[in-house]
This record gives sequence, structure tokens and C-alpha cells, in this order.
Amino acid sequence: MQEKRNSLEQKKAEALLGGGQSRIDSQHKKGKLTARERIDVLLDKNSFEEIGMLVTHRSTNFGLENEKYLGDGVVTGYGKIDGRLVYVFSQDFTVMGGSLAEAHAEKICKIMDLAMKNGAPVIGLNDSGGARIQEGVVSLGGYADIFYRNVQASGVVPQISAIMGPCAGGAVYSPALTDFIVMVENTSYMFVTGPNVVKTVTHETVTSEELGGASTHSTKSGVTHFTAEHDVAALKMIRQMLSYMPQNCEDDAPRLAYEMGNEKREKLNTIIPDNPNQPYDIKEVISEVVDENSWLEVHKDYAENIVVGFSRIAGRSIGVVANQPAFLAGVLDIKSSNKAARFVRFCDAFNIPLLVLEDVPGFLPGTDQEWNGIISNGAKLLYAFSEATVPRVTVITRKAYGGAYDVMNSKHIGADMNFAWPSAEIAVMGAKGAAEIIFKKEIATSEDPAAKWKEKESEYAQLFANPYSAAERGYVDEVIEPAVTREKLIRAFEMLENKAEKMPRKKHGNIPL
Ligand code: HXC
Repeated sequence: MQEKRNSLEQKKAEALLGGGQSRIDSQHKKGKLTARERIDVLLDKNSFEEIGMLVTHRSTNFGLENEKYLGDGVVTGYGKIDGRLVYVFSQDFTVMGGSLAEAHAEKICKIMDLAMKNGAPVIGLNDSGGARIQEGVVSLGGYADIFYRNVQASGVVPQISAIMGPCAGGAVYSPALTDFIVMVENTSYMFVTGPNVVKTVTHETVTSEELGGASTHSTKSGVTHFTAEHDVAALKMIRQMLSYMPQNCEDDAPRLAYEMGNEKREKLNTIIPDNPNQPYDIKEVISEVVDENSWLEVHKDYAENIVVGFSRIAGRSIGVVANQPAFLAGVLDIKSSNKAARFVRFCDAFNIPLLVLEDVPGFLPGTDQEWNGIISNGAKLLYAFSEATVPRVTVITRKAYGGAYDVMNSKHIGADMNFAWPSAEIAVMGAKGAAEIIFKKEIATSEDPAAKWKEKESEYAQLFANPYSAAERGYVDEVIEPAVTREKLIRAFEMLENKAEKMPRKKHGNIPL
């Protein structure tokens, strides 16, 4: 018995060492933690239970018969974050570059299956050279088995990916199928084809960092939702993200205790500039209406004309979608529509109520937008809001013009409560442009066309650049003093707490992708 116990201890020690001390040292030299150290930082202390520690690879080609690494390059198991169950896999770069082979993939699939059966989030810590070259098609099959499960789990349990090293080729598609990606700055990259292939095919010279580093994917492509300075920051960010989310689609997000106090926020009364064309920062409005220190911005550096993120209001988890007048005047374009639509769909899938702050002059005009499909991309946001059945509240702070008024969670597409500030302008278009079109002849034939235009502009503005025509029809439920916005929102979300709405029976809708 003692002998057997000794052999078990030896095997465990071997597994814990991964690819060996020198490879662990080299991982540290690059500023990276090892697979197991990452799990330790991610999970509550002593909560990790490992599954499949003694699994080894099956291929014996190309010298692999001489080397047996316990665990096959990935550490898998379950544990707790803030006392709640999560499943985790962490690829071990010290073992054959964390490359994915048959047994490695099976281990990941096993914990994904458990996560689905038990309704808990899956977190993937990716650090891998991709498909294990020595195993050929078996590795590709392993990837596809994971992709399939990513899709089955989508909308059932939250899935979060951290990219903490290389992630290349088809390997990028598993993170891309998950709900949120966080990339570590300077040590991680993601691309379908690397710099060498790019050079051969398109003759472009580009580094891995330029092609697919954290900065590229957080600003240019929008592939990553978050970036983190180092491994520890990325893992802490995942813990924070999960605090806003339920365990699964049947569950509600955790709620923090909250006692009502003085909820008036006088600063909101002076945030909107007198000149309607002057920008202001919508994030100042957000920080006044949500609970203190509760804001977690998603896609912070991508499509900055719309701001999305998680927050809390009186302890309840909410998703915020807000036009940003301080960037491109808050206009809706292809990127911002995509960014917001995906966020709205996540919140709806996981029962997180939506707050929309609206100040939008319309859709961005131009050939670039039209030729690249602002029609179908803008329709995604319209679709996402229209199908969302979670509690939905809108506050129109200033402009709500044209189609963008409809899209930004209007009552017509199912919003539950819509408030407007007295500064709201709800109309088909801005007064200047409107006057030019409808009074074209009158202006042209006038003795002083410029003065006539001004006169007609102010006539139109008086009639429509306010919230009252919309309020008369009930499109706006209440015109409120900005300072009481937070109080109104707390009450509205409380009132909507038990909202139950069903979509018509269907297999699935056909969002214009
Ligand atoms: C087997 C691999 C490997 C792989 C790395 N290693 N990638 N072994 N299969 N895919 C091994 C190396 O041989 C080396 O072993 C160890 O991991 C560390 O690798 P290094 O090259 O020394 O590390 P580094 O210099 O940091 O470079 C890392 C790297 C590079 C950039 C990831 O290793 C690399 O380019 N690997 C190949 C990437 C690739 O082309 N993968 C296939 C993509 S296609 P030793 O024993 O020497 O330490 C793909 C298809 C998926 O993934 C399709 C899904 C649908």
C-alpha cells in the first residue's frame, strides 16, 4: 500500500512540474505565470479540484513515445470564485507549447460538459502553440469538438476566455465563440494567419504584436473586450466580470445589499451644455446614476462613440448602453452598432436588465458606411433590442434623431420605461437640416435666404427640439429633472423586477449577420 501511495505522490509531483523547471523558469522570464499559478490567482483560495491530472497523450509519432507528460499540456477542473462554482481549463505552455491534441481536447470537453450539466460558467486560460503538429487531424478534430461545445453552451452558461500567450490559426475560434475575451498586453496575440504567411501572401511586413496583439484587437478589430497589463490583472478582471453575471441562463445575477439614501445627483442638472452641438462625456452621466465603484466598461477602446458596460443600480446588476457625444458626436455607425448589439444580446441571454442613455444625432452618413453595410449592421442593434425580454429602461438626455431614435431602445421596440430630460430633442432630424428641406422654396425665394433659413430653423426647433411631443403621445413616460434620474431608475428597475415576457415560438430568429 505504502509503495502504491509513493507512486501516486511521485506521479502528482511529476504532473505539477509540467514540462520541467527550466521551462517554468523560461515562462517566468517572459513575465508569464504558469498554468497552475494562474488557476491559483483566479480561484478562491484552496477551492481548486483538478480533473484528469494523470491523462497523457496517445500519439507516439515523431519521438513522442519517449516523452510522457502527465496532464497533456492542460490543467482542467473546477473551483469557486466568490464562493460560486466555475469550471476552468488552463493551457500549460511548458508542455509541448501547450499544443492541443486528442487527450488535451478531451479534457477541455469534459469540463465543458460538466459546466453545461451543472449550470456554471466556463473559463478558458489560453496559452498554446495551436494544433499539436505531431498528431495531425486528431488535433483538428479536438478543436472542432470544443467549438461545437462553445456553441451549445452559448447563452446557457457564461463563457470567458483569457488569452495569455500565443493563440493562432483555427485556435482563435474557440475564444471568439465565447462571450468575453481578455488579452494580456505584450505577451499574447491572436491571428488566423501569422506574420510569415501574411508576408508571403500579401507582401505586408508586420510583427505578431502589430498583427494580433492586445492593443490591435482592443482598438482596431474589437476581437478582445478587455486588455490587462499582466496575467494577475487579467485574472482579477475575470473575477470582477463574473460578479455581474448569473451562473446560467435560468439564474439571476448576484444582488448586493443596498439601502436607499439621498439619491439626488445635482451635478446632472448642469452636465448638458447650453449649445446643443457642444459635446459632453456620457461617462460622467453614467457615474452619477450607477452605484459607486460599480462600473466595468466593456470594449473601452473600440467604437468609442457608444459606451457599453456592466454596473449596478441599488445593488442590482445592469448592462449600460450609452451614446457618447464626446466621440464622433455619438453617431451610430457599423462598429458601434455591432459592439452594442452583441452586448445587448449577452445581457438579454443572462437576465441582466438594460439601461440605455440616449444622445444620438443619427447614423453616420457616407460611402464608407453605406458600402460596408450600415444598413444590415445597424439592423443588428435594432434586432438585438427588439428581441430583448429583460427589463429595459431608456433615458433620453439630449438628441434622439431619426432612425436612431427608434433603434436606441424606444418604447416602440419594447422598452419598458422611457424618461427624457427637458433638454431632449426628439425629431426626424436636426432643425437646421429639416428647415433646409421643408422650406427649400421659401428660403430660396426670400430676399434674405440666410435670415429666412434661421427663422424656419428656430420655428422647427421650437416645435420638435423638445421632449413634449413625444411625451404627449406616451412615447416618453415622464420628463424628469436630471438630478432625480438615479432615483427614478432605482424605482423603475425595482418595479420591473418580475417582468416576464415570452417571444413567439420559433426555432431561432434570423438576425441580419
Ligand atoms: C507541437 C509545439 C507546437 C505545436 C510549439 N510547440 N507549438 N509542439 N505542436 N503546434 C513546442 C515547440 O516545439 C517547443 O518544444 C515548445 O513547444 C515551445 O515552443 P518554442 O517555439 O520554443 O516557443 P516560442 O519561441 O515562444 O514560440 C512559440 C510559438 C511557436 C510562436 C507558438 O512555437 C510556433 O510558431 N509554434 C507553431 C505554431 C503553429 O503553427 N501551430 C499550428 C497552427 S494551425 P521544445 O521541446 O523545443 O521546447 C492550428 C490549426 C487549428 O492551430 C485549426 C483548428 C480548426
